[in-house]
Amino acid sequence: MLKGQIFYTEHVKNELTDFCSRHHKKHIVFICDVHTEKYCLPLFGGDLQTIVIPAGELSKNLETYGYIIKKLIYFKANKSTLVVNLGGGVVTDIGGFAASTYMRGIDFINIPTTLLGMIDAAIGGKTGIDFLLNKNYLGTFALPEAIIIDTVFLKTLPTEELKSGGAEMIKIGIIANQTLFQKIEASEPLEQLIKICSETKHAITSHDLYDKGERQLLNFGHTIGHAYESYRLNIEQPIMHGLAIAKGMMAETRIAFFMELINEDEMNIIINHIALHTEQTELSAEDIEAIEPLLLMDKKNEQHKIIFSLPIGIGAGRTKVQVAFADIQKSLFHA
Ligand SMILES: NC(=O)c1ccc[n+]([C@@H]2O[C@H](COP(=O)([O-])OP(=O)(O)OC[C@H]3O[C@@H](n4cnc5c(N)ncnc54)[C@H](O)[C@@H]3O)[C@@H](O)[C@H]2O)c1
Repeated sequence: MLKGQIFYTEHVKNELTDFCSRHHKKHIVFICDVHTEKYCLPLFGGDLQTIVIPAGELSKNLETYGYIIKKLIYFKANKSTLVVNLGGGVVTDIGGFAASTYMRGIDFINIPTTLLGMIDAAIGGKTGIDFLLNKNYLGTFALPEAIIIDTVFLKTLPTEELKSGGAEMIKIGIIANQTLFQKIEASEPLEQLIKICSETKHAITSHDLYDKGERQLLNFGHTIGHAYESYRLNIEQPIMHGLAIAKGMMAETRIAFFMELINEDEMNIIINHIALHTEQTELSAEDIEAIEPLLLMDKKNEQHKIIFSLPIGIGAGRTKVQVAFADIQKSLFHA
C-alpha cells in the first residue's frame, strides 16, 4: 500500500481495526486534544493509551512537542508502534511531527476530526509546530501511513470551525479545481465536496511532496494569511487558520487583479464567494500595518522578493509570482 492513501468510511473504528490487522500493528497510541478526547475518542471505545494535549494553535509548540515525546517514552513506543493522530490540524501537525522525529520516525496515521483537517491538514505529509510564535517554523515532510476520513466527527464541530475549513476548501477550488468551486457555489452535499477536495489535495501533494513546484499552488492566500495569523498569535488573540487564510485570499486576489492575472469580474466573483461562505471581511488598515514586517519573514521569500501563488482565473493558478513589497502595499491599501 502506498503511504498517505485516503480511506473514506462511515465506520471509523472498524476501518482502524482493519488497518491495524493488515499492518500487524498491536501497540497503538492515540494523540488527541481535550476536545477530541471528549467528542471523538469515545467512538473507539476500550482501554486506550492516549496522549492528550491542550486544544488550539497556542499548544502547537515546543513544550507540547516535548510533552508528547515524554509520553511516547512512558508508553514505551518503538518502531512497531502506530501513532493515531485524532484531531484537527493542530493534532495532526504536532502529532505527525512528534511521530516523524521520535526514534527518527515511527509510523502514524491521521484521523482528521475537523473539516479543515479532512480536506487539507491531514493530507500531504507536512508536519510541524510554531516557534517563537512564528507559524510552522519547525517541521518535517513525513507521510502518514494512511488517512481515515469519517464525517461523523463533523456533528460536534462548532460552526465557526466549519467556516474555517470551508475557506480552505474554497481555496483549493479557486487555485486548482474549477468544478469544485462551482459545486461549492451550488451547495452540493458536504460529503461530496470533502471527497473532491481531499482527492485534489492528495493528487497535488503526491506529485510534489517536497513543495518545489505544483504544491506551492496551495499557498494561495497563505503569504498574507500566515502573516496575519502570526500577528494574531503575537497579540495572543489567535484566529482560526482558515479564517486568516480567507482574509489572505481576499487581499491576494486583489494583487492578482492588479498584476492582470485575473480580470475584474473574476476578482469580484472570488472575493464575493469567500466573503459569503466565510463571513470574513478584508484586512483593515491597522491589520495591514501590523502584518507588513511579518510578511518580510515569510518562509517562501526568495532574495528579498515576496513570493505569491496567485489565481490566473477560477480553477487555475500560478506559483512563484514575485511581487515587490511596494506593489503589495499598494494593493493592500487599495483594498
Ligand atoms: N499540514 C498541513 O498541510 C496543514 C494544512 C492546513 C492547515 N494546517 C494547520 O492546521 C491547523 C488548523 O487546523 P484546524 O482548523 O483543524 O484547528 P484545530 O486542530 O485547532 O481544531 C479546531 C478546534 O476544533 C476542536 N475540534 C476538533 N475536532 C472536533 C470535533 N469533531 N468536535 C468538536 N470539536 C473539535 C479542536 O479541539 C479545536 O478546539 C493550523 O495549525 C494549521 O497551520 C496544516
